[in-house]
Amino acid sequence: MNAERTTADAEGPAWHAAADGWAEHWAGFAAPAREAVAQAAGLTAGTAVLDAGCGSGEFCALAASRGARVSGIDAAPGLVEIARRAVPSAEIRTGPIERLPWPDASFDLVTAFNALQFAADVGVALAELRRVAGTGAQVAVCNWGRVEDSEMEAVFRPLAELKAPRDRPAPRVREPGVLEDVGRQAGLTVRSAAEVDVPYAFPDRAALERALRALAPAYGVGPETSEPVVAATVETAASPYRRADGSYRFENTYRYVVFAVTA
Ligand SMILES: C[S@@+](CC[C@H](N)C(=O)[O-])C[C@H]1O[C@@H](n2cnc3c(N)ncnc32)[C@H](O)[C@@H]1O
Repeated sequence: MNAERTTADAEGPAWHAAADGWAEHWAGFAAPAREAVAQAAGLTAGTAVLDAGCGSGEFCALAASRGARVSGIDAAPGLVEIARRAVPSAEIRTGPIERLPWPDASFDLVTAFNALQFAADVGVALAELRRVAGTGAQVAVCNWGRVEDSEMEAVFRPLAELKAPRDRPAPRVREPGVLEDVGRQAGLTVRSAAEVDVPYAFPDRAALERALRALAPAYGVGPETSEPVVAATVETAASPYRRADGSYRFENTYRYVVFAVTA
């Protein structure tokens, strides 16, 4: 289903502005979730994979390292550029996940990591992932788990509150069962679902501050607004996660659902 409305025009420039910072400070943390999804979906040599909202290309790189035929798409040109450099064998395009520039039934596996919730309508985006997967293929969606299972929420929330409010309620895809229901409504069949531990660790206070400053453009805020919030956040909200050696560690849970595309 091709969506008329996409959020690529808004999300693309914001993530483009944060592209280098995202790749350097943040993208690596989700490695355990990427590995778990690759295993659950049986990713193997020759699998035709599309990663929707591929960011700086970490899942594309993992898939290519397993011998898969890899495609990716993201709204942020700066991230697409980084992904293309990281995975030269992959076909990586700039564009919206809600309107994918591939014909029906192009892939064996279509994935979306921490990306679908940015779509104008998660159900419509999921139906579009299903379209390009085609009957017999799989669609795997991975997101942060429940807010109460994610310690990083304490430091993300003050930054997120700076972002202009959405014109619709945030999709509740982090809650167990919600993504499954949205997928069923999009004509998908749940094959498996699981939680994955994804700790975020920073060697010291300066590293945590640098990472949060680098992420601020993705929330659409400039340094004059974000800097004081980052400083206050690290001083207060992050302090319970500071260890005796000065490092920080936050325990988090991601959730994924692997869907089968049935006729
Ligand atoms: C939090 S990042 C996750 C990136 C990557 N999947 C990962 O897990 O590292 C969200 C990504 O979704 C992309 N994105 C958000 N809305 C999008 C849309 N409507 N179409 C295409 N990409 C979108 C952003 O540009 C960004 O790269």
